[in-house]
Amino acid sequence: MKKIITYGTFDLLHPGHITLLRRAKEMGDYLIVGVSTDEFNRKKNKEAYHHFDNRKVIVEAIRYVDKVIPETNWDQKIDDIIQYDIDLFVMGNDWDGEFDFLKRYCDVIYLPRTKGISSSKIKKDRLLD
Ligand code: CTP
Repeated sequence: MKKIITYGTFDLLHPGHITLLRRAKEMGDYLIVGVSTDEFNRKKNKEAYHHFDNRKVIVEAIRYVDKVIPETNWDQKIDDIIQYDIDLFVMGNDWDGEFDFLKRYCDVIYLPRTKGISSSKIKKDRLLD
């Protein structure tokens, strides 16, 4: 069984998220998503609209997702890859090259982002309404 992992905040779910998760799942059999906790987001100066528990429930309901784990810090990826016996690490290409150090542990692929949509844009557009 080919196991895949990806990470993100996944706030205000949009088609860019779904496309990323669908394409990730199509590359194997079992998809794990590390969803950033609120505490971790604060360290990144990011404030999600939905709290972690709600983002987790929403991402768990996506048909391409088999398991959600919390992403609590920058340094957990190697441990997660080993613990869950991951074959492929997937991220959007806004992170191009950033995780190449994980190639010692599994394959690493950056998928093209969907143009014109992001959680930040949704928040900004709604403020302008
Ligand atoms: N993603 C994507 N296409 C988009 C937006 C996000 O493929 N238009 C991918 C990201 O590259 C990442 C995953 O979805 O691999 C989760 O990204 P996240 O940061 O939660 O989404 P954004 O909408 O980019 O959020 P923000 O605007 O807060 O950065």
